[in-house]
Amino acid sequence: MEILFVRTAVILISLAASLLAGCATGNSAADHPPTLKDAFKNDFPIGVAINQNQFTGLDTNGVALITSQFNAISPENVLKWEKVHPHPGTNGYDFAPGDVYVAFGEQHHMLIVGHTLVWHSQTPSWVFQDESGRRLSGTNAADRELLLHRMRDHIQTVVGHYKGRIKIWDVVNEALNDSRSENDTNLLRQTSPWVRILGMDFIVKAFEYAHEADPDAILRYNDYSIENPAKRQRLIKLITCLQSQHVPVMAIGSQTHANLIWPEPDLEDDFLTEISRLGLPIHITELDVNGSQAGQRSQDADIMQNAQANAGGQPFATVQEKLAHQYGDLFKTFLKHRDAIKLVTFWGVTDTDSWRSNGQPLLFDGNWRPKPAFDEVIKTAE
Ligand code: XIL
Repeated sequence: MEILFVRTAVILISLAASLLAGCATGNSAADHPPTLKDAFKNDFPIGVAINQNQFTGLDTNGVALITSQFNAISPENVLKWEKVHPHPGTNGYDFAPGDVYVAFGEQHHMLIVGHTLVWHSQTPSWVFQDESGRRLSGTNAADRELLLHRMRDHIQTVVGHYKGRIKIWDVVNEALNDSRSENDTNLLRQTSPWVRILGMDFIVKAFEYAHEADPDAILRYNDYSIENPAKRQRLIKLITCLQSQHVPVMAIGSQTHANLIWPEPDLEDDFLTEISRLGLPIHITELDVNGSQAGQRSQDADIMQNAQANAGGQPFATVQEKLAHQYGDLFKTFLKHRDAIKLVTFWGVTDTDSWRSNGQPLLFDGNWRPKPAFDEVIKTAE
């Protein structure tokens, strides 16, 4: 009896000691370096676009970063029309890679985004041709019918395939005219075959078809450079027009392919203020900050860029410092608008993965190490 008591006491004491030790370890910042998803857990999920090497598990270092830092994923390429539906006909779909992407997200309990259903880019040319290879025409009613029918089949097959698993879809990507001139009265991108053949109808119908296929999915309109005044006004016109017709557009995706000097904090702040008045959640969908010289997309002369980069008497020694500064500014503005912003997604994990790797535009370098920009972003959350 006595032995049993002593044994129990010893077990209880060592249990308490290990619990205390556990607490001590848990409180040590060094043992738990900050992560993006934790830092912003009270604000918005933090997503990342992932590639095939990552969702198949080949890039083990990438996977470690994705699962520790992020809680949402977007498919960088694998669900674009050319990948998921390369050929016409019912056998023209290839869901194998997309299925692995979605399973990866489920395995890691992440918010899973689908990108993108209808876009002028990365879409096979057969989509805009008849069976003899003739270009479909916007003035031919049968051609318009054919294209609408194809679009419906594509959207309903793809959205239906992932129904209930992909929670957010980019339904229409980059449909707005991106001219910077406020005198340019074309609302839509005139060079897009969708616009040439179907005009505004393709946008209306794309959202309707997607909503029919999965009534619970959040349906996004996604575009770039919508911070700029002329394109921003076109976005407002488009969304207001869709809303007046009860088209199920449910969120606005702002790609936010930034550079070191664009968008300036005031531009981003004004943009978010104005766009949030539309009453839809805003998602930052493809965030990166291009650090290369050629990537400073400003139309102004160098002298102007230098003036802006040094504004406030703060010269920056290196590109990485400028990058950190721009990321810090962006996240401060996102946090200011946290009521409207419901997701912030980076377009890639490391600089090496990035579609514009020359510009070293992300928070992690090619060796999967956090850069000064990572620390700066974490700092804004604290
Ligand atoms: C890019 C991918 O990152 C590249 O790998 C691919 O070669 C081209 O497309 N806007 C979008 C994204 O909506 O789909 C694009 O992604 C970047 C611009």
